[in-house]
Amino acid sequence: MDLADSSPSLGRALETLRAKTQKAPEIALVLGSGLGAFADTFVDAQSIPYTQIPGMPGSTVPGHAGRLVFGRIGARRVVAMQGRVHLYEGHDASAAVFGVRLMRLLGAHTFVVSNAAGGIRAGMRAGDLMLIDDHLNLTGHNCLRGPNDPLLGPRFPDMSEVYARELREHAQGCAQRLGVTLTHGVYAGMLGPSYETPAEIRMLRTLGADAVGMSTVLETIAARHMQARCLGISCITNLAAGMSQSALSHDEVQDVARAVADELSRLLHAVITELPE
Ligand code: HPA
Repeated sequence: MDLADSSPSLGRALETLRAKTQKAPEIALVLGSGLGAFADTFVDAQSIPYTQIPGMPGSTVPGHAGRLVFGRIGARRVVAMQGRVHLYEGHDASAAVFGVRLMRLLGAHTFVVSNAAGGIRAGMRAGDLMLIDDHLNLTGHNCLRGPNDPLLGPRFPDMSEVYARELREHAQGCAQRLGVTLTHGVYAGMLGPSYETPAEIRMLRTLGADAVGMSTVLETIAARHMQARCLGISCITNLAAGMSQSALSHDEVQDVARAVADELSRLLHAVITELPE
């Protein structure tokens, strides 16, 4: 059995991409709200809009461009989703991870996933960067629900180290050398699109969450299912609901994400160029 039989929509998308590009990425990135500009720094870049990839859902969210960008950072071959697809847009869980699966099938074995998130832990400030140690999938969904395709991965994949320890240590080392402050903690993935209530934030804090957002958890579950290793970085764009006087807005989230995008880009550049094989 091959992919064309077991997962025909992925098989078709892969065939289409292979006809459009010879590039064979090692490292895949998912760039979150306001963080897409990093892909503009790729050398020998080639962009493919999601609309040209059959089966690939488009992003409808402002701040998410909606294209795959192939290229190089230093000597490393990379591909990025410039704009992700969220559950709250109405996509089902497997559609939300279609791009992640495609990048894995193209050969990427290391995933770097970024997002905008609200800070829950006391002492966090807008503009902080947080390495994701682990996550709580509170979306109520799982991209692995339904028949399992054994060509992608096992029925019951282990999730005891979704965010690879060696990559976290590597990222902390890069941050230290660059003088970038990088905290770390647990990311809670919610369905959205409404921001949380103050009571929900108190609940999430009790559950052990340090930051909260509306993405990432399904993407990293899909990547781990396919035996890729993951690094996750949250850009803390705001204090979570009830922790400050101001109401939350997507404009503010994007503004703060853009303001720290340069620092995140410096960190990502080092993490990728210095990545151990
Ligand atoms: N909650 C959920 N998602 C978010 C937030 C938040 O406070 N900030 C950025 N994305």
